[in-house]
Amino acid sequence: MPKQYVVFGRPVPRLGTRHTSVLLVIISLFAVFSLLFTLPSAIPTGPSLALADHRFSIPSSLKNPWYSSLNPFKQPSHAPPRQRNDTYDETSWYSNFKWLSIPFSSSVTFDENRLLLPMLVERPPIYCYYDNTVKREPAIKDAESDLLLSWRRAWWAQGFKPIILSQAEAMNNPRYEELQRHEDMNPKLKTDIMRWLAWENMGGGLLAHHLLLPMGSHTDPLLSYLRRGEFPKLTRWKDLDDGLFVGPKADIATVIKLTMASPNTTTATNLLAALELLPPKPEKETPIPFTVDPDNPKALAYYSAKTIESTYPKVGADILASPAAGLPSLNQLITSHLHVTWQNLFASGIAVVKPLPHHTTHMISPAYELAKRLSHCPESPMPTSCPPNNRKCTPCSAATPLKISTPAHYLNTSTLYTIGTVPHPYTSTSLHSLLEHIDVSWVRRRSPRDAWVTDLTTDICPAGISGAPRVLRFKEAVASDYGASRSLWLLAERALPDDLDWYFGFAVPTEASWDATMTATPAAADDTAKSDGAEKPGAEQRPLPPAHDPKDGPVPTPEELKLEPNLLARARIVVGDAKTKNRASKEEIAVRDAIEAWNLADTEAWRFARAFLARKAMERKKWEEEEAKYAGGIGSEKGRRSGWDRWLDKRESAV
Ligand SMILES: *[C@@H]1O[C@H](CO)[C@@H](O)[C@H](O)[C@H]1NC(C)=O
Ligand SMILES: *[C@@H]1O[C@H](CO)[C@@H](O)[C@H](O)[C@H]1NC(C)=O
Ligand SMILES: *[C@@H]1O[C@H](CO)[C@@H](O)[C@H](O)[C@H]1NC(C)=O
Repeated sequence: MPKQYVVFGRPVPRLGTRHTSVLLVIISLFAVFSLLFTLPSAIPTGPSLALADHRFSIPSSLKNPWYSSLNPFKQPSHAPPRQRNDTYDETSWYSNFKWLSIPFSSSVTFDENRLLLPMLVERPPIYCYYDNTVKREPAIKDAESDLLLSWRRAWWAQGFKPIILSQAEAMNNPRYEELQRHEDMNPKLKTDIMRWLAWENMGGGLLAHHLLLPMGSHTDPLLSYLRRGEFPKLTRWKDLDDGLFVGPKADIATVIKLTMASPNTTTATNLLAALELLPPKPEKETPIPFTVDPDNPKALAYYSAKTIESTYPKVGADILASPAAGLPSLNQLITSHLHVTWQNLFASGIAVVKPLPHHTTHMISPAYELAKRLSHCPESPMPTSCPPNNRKCTPCSAATPLKISTPAHYLNTSTLYTIGTVPHPYTSTSLHSLLEHIDVSWVRRRSPRDAWVTDLTTDICPAGISGAPRVLRFKEAVASDYGASRSLWLLAERALPDDLDWYFGFAVPTEASWDATMTATPAAADDTAKSDGAEKPGAEQRPLPPAHDPKDGPVPTPEELKLEPNLLARARIVVGDAKTKNRASKEEIAVRDAIEAWNLADTEAWRFARAFLARKAMERKKWEEEEAKYAGGIGSEKGRRSGWDRWLDKRESAV
């Protein structure tokens, strides 16, 4: 009888010949697989590898799509579930709190085009009431719409969801019927109560006047508190009068009830007046549930009638003379103050980062142009004035404009605004080499790995570390709360986003307005536009950034500069983001894929920047669509007179 083997007390089954051959097949399969997967990474790579070694990165052989399904060593796992609205503009994302601990998104999402992004922070709604039943001249309507637009843009940029309420929301409130029964009520008080009815109907939260705007740092404690959106008590601010209220629905209901019961409803012109006029009744069951915050809110600017009259008399006089002409001037004043506040926050200037600076001059020129526009002094009816909440600002001066620099590395300075241009590695490789034709073996033998992200993060990462930790620092600079409020990262292959005003919270001066003040356009730009088919018409006016600091890298010769536009145009096509009929060839696509596999960190950086921009664009588009249902779009039927009524009255009675 054959011997029975025993392992850990269990008998081992005996193998028949059939079993043995199956085992042999398995073993040989295993051997073939091991060989397949270890071989490519064993091929020696060029000397340039010393530039950026890849301790953490996945070998490029793992990029084979069939690998992840066949890899016998990998734990079986599913792609994470899809989230709502996670796709836009050829990219998609997976919002997850692990975004800053996993360098390569596809190791979680199993999809090259699905990127790990930070969680999308819920924006708390901030309401403002606009009575659209009042008849107005079209010019005034337009001017008020513009003011509302400025209001929405400023709050959106600070992380809120600005919503304009109208009569419709107030009429939804069951208390509206009761209000109608107060026939002898002062009509102005009635309008003010309508505002509160609309607010109560929305469930409370934040109620702002449309001339109250956030002007301060994104990290200001009050703005951070408001963004949390939790308000257990009805609160107003002593210095803001009726500019801002926060509170829960129940307290709002109490205040409305108390106001309607006030004995002074025929004389009082607003809710606060009616309440403050209430005679003190010690036996009163419901005390007025107002908390008054005595602090002066540093980051909120309220252009109340009183303030305009005393601080901006020129604009006040304009409005009094003709609201149709005066309101646009007020809007211009507000826009200029938002812009000046931004410029004061970034007193160190704007850094248009330019890693691998030798041949990226044309590539960063759109970012440079945007920096120019941001450093430009905004038009204003009172150019040297300061916002009401910061009387000691530094007004913009054409003589000492905001400094624009083009450093090769990202500098993490809190008062420096960074505008980055993220190239696809195909773009950076092709520009860096100035080669029209790249082939795969050249990539493997001659091109440095992840050169772009390595150069960019030189200042914030220790020397010699690999691409994986660097790409994490890059992601932090792009998308962390701190980083995102101090930088904007564009794609080298795309035009500037068309909703930049919403990123900054004010109308960024247009090109035309600074063209007039530009002294000269560099001569090199002329050749640029002619040879560059993919550029938009009018691009010839774009100024080239001045030459970079030679200590960041060699400075291009004029001949080298002339080669850039064509390479850039071709790269746009190959990367697949150019909307042209011109297609990339099969060879170019193969080279692009090889470059992506070779530069995992640069590719991840580019895809991350793309997904981050796309999510931002989609968030705004979605909200704009939602709002359009109620508002009929901004610039149409919207506008509110509450502030103006009172303001004009006061002036009239004072005259
Ligand atoms: C977002 O998702 C909702 C519901 O899932 C859908 O109705 C809406 O159209 C989506 N919006 C966009 C912009 O894709
Ligand atoms: C408010 O009402 C009280 C009680 O009726 C009255 O004494 C007071 O004069 C009123 N105030 C105004 C401003 O009308
Ligand atoms: C930049 O500096 C801030 C504050 O010092 C720090 O919290 C943050 O991690 C830094 N960001 C990067 C990308 O290094």
